[in-house]
Amino acid sequence: MLNIQVTRTTAPKQKPQDETKLGFGKIFTDHMFLMDYTAGEGWHDPRIVPYGPLPMDPATTVFHYAQEIFEGMKAYRTADGSVQLFRPDCNASRMQDSADRLCIPKIPVEDFVQAVEAIVDIDRDWVPHTDGASLYIRPFVFATDVGLGVHASRHYLFVIICSPSGAYYAEGLDPVRIYVEDEYIRAAPGLTGFTKCGGNYAASIKAGELAEEKGFSQVLWLDGVEKKYVEEVGSMNIMFKIDGKIYTAACTGTVLPGVTRRSIIELLHDWGYEVVEGKLAIADVMKAADEGKLEEVFGTGTAAVVSPVKELDWEGKVALIGGGKIGPLTQKLYDTLTGIQWGKLPDTKGWTVKVEPRY
Ligand code: COI
Repeated sequence: MLNIQVTRTTAPKQKPQDETKLGFGKIFTDHMFLMDYTAGEGWHDPRIVPYGPLPMDPATTVFHYAQEIFEGMKAYRTADGSVQLFRPDCNASRMQDSADRLCIPKIPVEDFVQAVEAIVDIDRDWVPHTDGASLYIRPFVFATDVGLGVHASRHYLFVIICSPSGAYYAEGLDPVRIYVEDEYIRAAPGLTGFTKCGGNYAASIKAGELAEEKGFSQVLWLDGVEKKYVEEVGSMNIMFKIDGKIYTAACTGTVLPGVTRRSIIELLHDWGYEVVEGKLAIADVMKAADEGKLEEVFGTGTAAVVSPVKELDWEGKVALIGGGKIGPLTQKLYDTLTGIQWGKLPDTKGWTVKVEPRY
């Protein structure tokens, strides 16, 4: 159990007036959580302080060698005014897996969850009251040794910041256009594809920018070896409904094991769908589209929630999906997942965790 020291801000910021125009990750709350790590001592000094800059030496190793990992989660306001998290233990254990790969010391699951609950509790007035808006939570850990040698750092900082946010895509729940990337790759076996490390995203930016210039929202990554099989989209996992069955890439090291992905698969199983987690060739996706069998395509992610896809472009071929409209299964998944998250539907799976007022 962490003994978290709290220093409250003496200058609270003005909260957003119009919660329908929050955008994603643009506004930050009054406080942040910090905890240090020192080799030989472990994690220490958990504290909540006013939100603000982190002074750092220019030779801090994270700036040079990117030893950094992060998580993405949300806090939701329910109709009775209380605040709840969605499967925070899953984010905590995924962060441990990322930490292991990046040689970062692990944070115990219960300490991670306690820290998230504490910062959300202190800034609970920032959790939006408007439908579709939530408090996006960004926990991250980075190396703070000062020096230019390439080694695992002996010091780290764990930070949690929070941002009242709306939909990740400007399109909201309107279906997006996705460019299937056939030149650059995101991951390959043995690399860091399964982790949430900043470096994965840095390496993805070029393809994302080029796709945006062509009018696409994001890119769909293919496997890094043969550039043949679908893997994931920039900020979400992706699923394909072909002839009644759901297909998605397996989490075998190159794909992020999404908490939303896993929850959606559980819902699909409950509803009797066959979900195939494995290799799906992009050529077969395009063929299914030609044959009228590509019924729905949607992304899943904490930020993206469940996002319908209306178009895939690959090597000059175009697959149009669902006449440009959200499909019925995608809509049902979105309604069910967000219903549970916002407490509008019963949580029969024990996925939600209420943030009790303690501070
Ligand atoms: C999330 O869905 O929480 C993510 O971390 C994706 C992010 C790159 C926006």
